[in-house]
Formats: sequence, C-alpha cells, structure tokens
Amino acid sequence: MCGIIGFAGNTEAVPILLDGLERLEYRGYDSAGVAVASPEGRLQVKKCKGRLGVLREALAAQKPLTGQVGIGHTRWATHGEPNDVNAHPHVSQSGKLAVVHNGIIENYMEIKQSLLHKGVVFASDTDTEVIVQLLEYYYKKSSNLMDAVYEVLNRIKGAYAMGILCSDFPEQLIAVRKDAPLLIGYGADGNYIASDVTALLAHTRTVTYMEDDEVAVVTADHVQILGRDGCFLEKEKHQIQWDVSAAEKGGYAHFMLKEIMEQPEAVRRTIQPRLADGEIVFEELEDERDLMKGISRIYLVACGSAYHVGMIGKYALERLLGIPVEACLASEFRYSGPLLGESALVIVISQSGETLDSMAALREAKRRGSKVLSIVNVMGSSIARESDHVLYTWAGPEIAVATTKAYTTQTVLLLMLGVYLARRLDRIGNGEYQEIVRELHGLHERIGMVLKNLELYQKTAARYFNHDSVFYIGRNQDYALGMEGSLKLKEISYIHSESYAAGELKHGTISLIEPGTLVVALAVYEPLVEKMRSNIVEVRSRGAEVVAVTTEENRDMIGSQASEVFVIPKVHTLLQPVLGVVPLQLFAYYIALNRGCDIDKPRNLAKSVTVE
Ligand code: F6R
Repeated sequence: MCGIIGFAGNTEAVPILLDGLERLEYRGYDSAGVAVASPEGRLQVKKCKGRLGVLREALAAQKPLTGQVGIGHTRWATHGEPNDVNAHPHVSQSGKLAVVHNGIIENYMEIKQSLLHKGVVFASDTDTEVIVQLLEYYYKKSSNLMDAVYEVLNRIKGAYAMGILCSDFPEQLIAVRKDAPLLIGYGADGNYIASDVTALLAHTRTVTYMEDDEVAVVTADHVQILGRDGCFLEKEKHQIQWDVSAAEKGGYAHFMLKEIMEQPEAVRRTIQPRLADGEIVFEELEDERDLMKGISRIYLVACGSAYHVGMIGKYALERLLGIPVEACLASEFRYSGPLLGESALVIVISQSGETLDSMAALREAKRRGSKVLSIVNVMGSSIARESDHVLYTWAGPEIAVATTKAYTTQTVLLLMLGVYLARRLDRIGNGEYQEIVRELHGLHERIGMVLKNLELYQKTAARYFNHDSVFYIGRNQDYALGMEGSLKLKEISYIHSESYAAGELKHGTISLIEPGTLVVALAVYEPLVEKMRSNIVEVRSRGAEVVAVTTEENRDMIGSQASEVFVIPKVHTLLQPVLGVVPLQLFAYYIALNRGCDIDKPRNLAKSVTVE
C-alpha cells in the first residue's frame, strides 16, 4: 500500500525514480510525486493526482528537476482525499525537508494540534505532513538532523516506512521503518531505498532488508544503518533471485492474464523441489521433526484470497490430521480470543508477507506462546522473517492486484504440508499418499490443460458480462473455491457478487434468485457432486442461468443442468481446488475485459495492504 523509491547516486535521479514508481504503481495509484535535491541544496517537488502518467506528463511539460538524490511515491490514500496537495512528497513549511511515507501515523491529530498552536501552517489533510512538520520543528530546535529524526520517531505512533530529504544535506537521503516494508539496494550508479524489491530489479539484486526501528543514511557511495539507540549496525546483504523480466508483462495485455498463464510453471516450482524419491520433503522443516508434538489445534490466518486458501486448508488439514483446524480472518484474529499457547500451531498465509493484519496476528500468536509457520511468496518479507518457520511458494513476483498464481501456489503448498504432516503422524494410508505424490508430479500439466479452454471462458464471459449480480455456490472445499471466484469477479469487474454454501441458499438468499440471475455452481468436490446437482436444479427451477464447473467424470450429470459448463481434469479430491480455481480466474478476467475495466489496477484497491 503506497510505493516508495529513493535514490542517491551519480546520475540523474528523476528517470530512476519514475521507472521505480512505474514498477511500484500496483501498490497504490491515486497520486504520485517526486522530490529531488539539487546539488546546491534546493528541494524541487512535483506531485499530481492520478496515475503515474499524469506526473510524467507534468514533468515533461516543465523545466527538468535536476539532481542525483531524490525520493518518489505512489499513493493509496488513507488520510485526505486523493488530490495534488495530499499527494506525497510532503514538504515542511520552510521547504527544507521532504518526506514520503507508507503507513499510518495514529497520533497525528494530537501532534498536528500541538504544532498548530506553535504556528505551523499545514497544507494538506494527511497524517504524513505531520511527520515532516514535526521533523522541521525538532531540527530547528537542535540543529542536528539525526537527533531530530530520532525525536520524531519517539513521538509518532503507528506504522511507517519513510524516505526523507533535507536541503542542508543534498547528497543524502534518510530511510526509516516500523511495521511497513523498506529495503536498501546497492547498485553500480548509486544506492536505493524501496518499499518493494520489484522497484529495484532493473538496477540491482543486492539488497538489505531494514528491520523495525532502524534508520539508514544513504548516499551515492555509502549506506549506514543505525539502530534505535543510534549505534551502527552490520547488516547482511541478500541476493534476490527474481529477474527483471519476471516483473514485466512480456507481451500479455495484463499482468493478471500473464500470471494466470504462468500458473503451471509457478505450481511446478512450488511442488518439484519438495518431491524426492516418491516422498514429500520439506527441507525447511528438517530441524523440526516434532513440529506437531503437543499440538491440539491449528489456526490458518490470512486475509482476502489467502484466507480462502485457509478455508480450503481447514477442510483438508482437519481430515488429514484429525485435530480441529480453523481458518481465521487475520483482521479479526487478535480480537476474537483465539485459544493460543504451546498447543496451538498458527499458520499465516501471505503472498506479500507484509499484510499488516496478518503480521499483527503472527505477533499475537508468538507473544502468547504459539509456534508460527508461514506460507509466503516474497523472500525476506516481514512475515517470513518473524515466523518460526517459513515455506516459500516460489511463485515469482505477482504484480496484478488480484492474486492468481500466488493463490494456487499457496493452496498447493498448504495441501502438501497437510499430507506431509499426516504421513509423519502416520495418519494417511500408503496407497492414498502415493496417489497424491504421483498426482503432484503432474499437477502443473493438468493446470495447463485447463488453460487450453480460453475460448470457452471468453465466449461465456461475452454472454454474461452485462449481469449486475452473480452468485457463487458450492459445498465443502467448493464453497471455499466459490468465495475466491466471487472475490475475483467483484474486485476486477465491479459486479456485485456473493458466495454461498450451496445448502445455505434456501435459508434466505434464494429469494434473490429470479429469471436470468447468474449462478456459478462449483460441482468439483466429488463426495457432494450429487447434492450440488440438486442445488443447481433448485436455482434453475427459479429461472437462474447456471455456469457450472465440474470434472470430466461428472460432465453429463452437471452439464445437463447448466447453461454452460467448464470441465476440468479429475485429480485426487484434495488437489482438485488447484484446478477448480483456474476457470473462475479466467471467467472473471474476461468479464472485466468485456466491461472495459482497469484489470491490473482495480479502483480503490492496492497490492499489499500495510494498514489496518
Ligand atoms: C485478492 C487479493 C487479496 C490478498 C490479500 C492478502 O485478489 O489479492 O485479497 O489475497 O490482501 O494479501 P497477502 O497474501 O499479500 O497477505
């Protein structure tokens, strides 16, 4: 949520900042801005409401902002409507200091009031401006910039990643983080700060992850990282494996389509290294042979689509492990009195590894004595670093705001974990285990088969894209699939959609079904396909149009009741959701395409939700 880039180097900053912002735009896109320090120590700022293109045009139309040190920001508004004034960077009253910020300053009103009393004049409605005005206040008092930065950090409460420029030190930028991601990149032409590694891939793959409460001073040739007490820290440098092409569209119309089509390869990368000699192996858990010792329940904690993965996991892990498993929304978890402690294992699922609610759930679980295992895509992210164990999905960068390949890889990884633990606990028969392992080997090819039916999804979407309300129904793990299908549709096409457990519809909601209502019926979960057929008949007899998803085996039984049917290959019941979601993703994609929506950057959304 919000993207930050900063550069201090030996070449002009603006092109580098704009390139970085372009790669960060998926983190927020309601306004964008840059600030550059000229060599003689003058801060030049340009910021505009709207997409990055608006900023580019505005910059092209004026005298160039010259300088080799600068900060940039792309915004997802929290405090203050998206407009030119509320866009970042924010500048102090004297114009000496500029700040870009990701996160929320919770006590900004109180600080603002006290600064107003001291005569400070504010330009914007944002919490961020409070930081820069407070910094100026302390800087004026102490004449020491670093002391002023620490004073600010002592005073503000909330989550933040920040880049700071000061005209008295035009050769440097300062970076600070707490509960929001920020990393430092080391390049040939200079050094960088960024909220997300994708912003840096074109320049460097050598990075250092900043930890909470650290402060970095970055110049063209030097990076100094200090702790909260002002002591210098020796920090590890990491090499990023992703390459720049992985974060580019590569000829596809949208990142979302590219990422859907990448799923066979992404799932293969998740599965293959974890299969050896007919066994599922998790090297990451080798030192933890007793992971399940004393564990009497599991919480799967996540947000949005990752929570839907947790719902699938709930059905699967409960059956495999024979203990209660609960899927929890991370935003509710810490307020709902979970039964934590040594006997609870908490599994946090997160693509970005930075989602604030998931992070807060993780910390609560650890604080209360539970072990935390996380399933994460972004290496070195906060959730990955703070978990006791981390399993990476290795899906590659996901840029489209609506998740696809991260969802499928999370699902397959969680299911593999369940089967692996069941094997260790001797709770799965050898025959079933071998069957699952065999099918895992070929799962990516099966996804490839589902992707071959693009024309059918396109044609069906063309028929239904004008509907203004869509219901998804399914039972058991198909209910979880329906939740995901429904979310995909509503977030990118803006069509109202709800997902129901198919048996629940008649307890009220069926009153909304009328002639022409579109119902997407998931009839994939083999044990309940016949019951689903009855539910389809129920809505059909009230005039609904039904698009069904089912397996080859049930094509006739389900297809005969539906207006359209998407058929997927049959695999072991446990793995079926990994295939079942693919037609739902493409159906949503083509509907949104027909409606002319901005698919990769849906309104009001942003990738990686780092606010509560
Ligand atoms: C929907 C979507 C979101 C994320 C959710 C969690 O398409 O992408 O619902 O799944 O915001 O994000 P992560 O997985 O980064 O924690």
